[in-house]
Amino acid sequence: MKIAIDGPAGAGKSTIARLVAQRLGLRYLDTGAMYRALTLAALGRGVSCADEDALMKVATSMDLEIVFDQETKGNRIYLDGQDVTAQIREPQVNANVSLVSSHQKVREYIVALQKEIARQGCIVMDGRDIGTVVMPDADWKIFLYASVEERARRRQRELQRNGHEVDLPDLEAQIRQRDHFDSTRAFSPLRKAEDAIEVDTTHLSIEQVVDKVLSIIGGADGDV
Ligand code: DC
Repeated sequence: MKIAIDGPAGAGKSTIARLVAQRLGLRYLDTGAMYRALTLAALGRGVSCADEDALMKVATSMDLEIVFDQETKGNRIYLDGQDVTAQIREPQVNANVSLVSSHQKVREYIVALQKEIARQGCIVMDGRDIGTVVMPDADWKIFLYASVEERARRRQRELQRNGHEVDLPDLEAQIRQRDHFDSTRAFSPLRKAEDAIEVDTTHLSIEQVVDKVLSIIGGADGDV
């Protein structure tokens, strides 16, 4: 079974996709983490995130390893042998990852890696273009969204857990900017696949969204 979960930043994709994978006993891949790892590698090597060719040199020379934790279904990300799972969520990466992921060659390279992972068997993947580009043949396509205000509050809580204080209005502005950038970029922009089912998570708890997704996948009685 292949399940694609797409949506804008802060809609709850990673959390929901991981829990759905856990409940169904499937592998899980956080595709945004791959663009984030490349961004971190570029920043670390002093490469401009606007320079596509230089980014490709980083992409093809970095040693990126994604380890699937069988128990939690979470992904641990290793860059050149170092665990960077927490580092790829830092504000500096947040501020540059949209630009990195907008380059066509970069996308083609990363998407090819993601398609290869999808070929290896059943999986839940979350991202922006999973239902449209990476797994257009997915059995289920879910498009999660939530209001900008709610997504900013969620991002603020995530950053606070990692020791960063960021103003809510600043986060809202960043999210609006990223939504705009991700959905208007020339190559595989964020958009709902025609056959994706939309779920508004604004007023739902994590458990409620997981149950909703499972009931969609299992049919009306939620029997999966
Ligand atoms: O889901 P996230 O916030 O970790 O994603 C980080 C960035 O990567 C986001 O700006 C959009 C981009 N991205 C993408 O373009 N395609 C994907 N499949 C996943 C993420």
